[in-house]
Amino acid sequence: MSSAARKKVGVLISGRGSNLQALLAAGAEPDFPAEIVLVVSSKPDAQGLARAARAGVATRVVPRRDFARREDCDAAMTAALEEAGVELVCMAGFMRLLSAAFVAHWRDRLINVHPSLLPLFPGLDTHARALAAGVKLHGCTVHFVRLEMDSGPIVGQAAVPVLPGDTEDALAARVLAAEHRLYPHCLRLVAGGRVKVVDEMAAIAEPGADAGARILNPAP
Ligand code: GRF
Repeated sequence: MSSAARKKVGVLISGRGSNLQALLAAGAEPDFPAEIVLVVSSKPDAQGLARAARAGVATRVVPRRDFARREDCDAAMTAALEEAGVELVCMAGFMRLLSAAFVAHWRDRLINVHPSLLPLFPGLDTHARALAAGVKLHGCTVHFVRLEMDSGPIVGQAAVPVLPGDTEDALAARVLAAEHRLYPHCLRLVAGGRVKVVDEMAAIAEPGADAGARILNPAP
């Protein structure tokens, strides 16, 4: 796909950046409809910054403490993203609340990955809460971002089983592996223009032929 046809993507991070890595790998494929052109971190020591640098992607650090107001910090992020020509923004482990102005500016052009099957378990400690609730299926969600935390039209979800004896770490690792598959898949759909938000639902054109897929836990 020609570079002009690929959507320019900015990724917001605060830490490890393993989802960023999955997006960078997808973006390096020639037929992927998006390329990562900028990584913005809220933290100067985020591991993800080194991943971006290794991939030859520009980085910016925009720490909240450099600004008096959250709105000013977010305006600096928008300025950096727009300078880089960004059309779509992916949050990938970005651990700071966004202002209403930022969310409105990027409405339907801002997606996030969250480690639960939303609307279950918004917020933090999702794996511990899934274990405490005794759910048999857990997973992750990619969604358009709205002002209320971890809400917004759902683009895609991946489910994993919760297994007997699971620890929080074991379950987190299983979900994270699912995130690394789901997020590039959803970015492909959004960047490829196959997702439309209608009445606050994400409608997917040609969603694929796997409609009979089931995960049963316990297995039959
Ligand atoms: C992921 O579990 C993501 O869903 C959550 O924060 C974690 C970030 O991990 N929002 P990484 O920085 O992508 O490795």
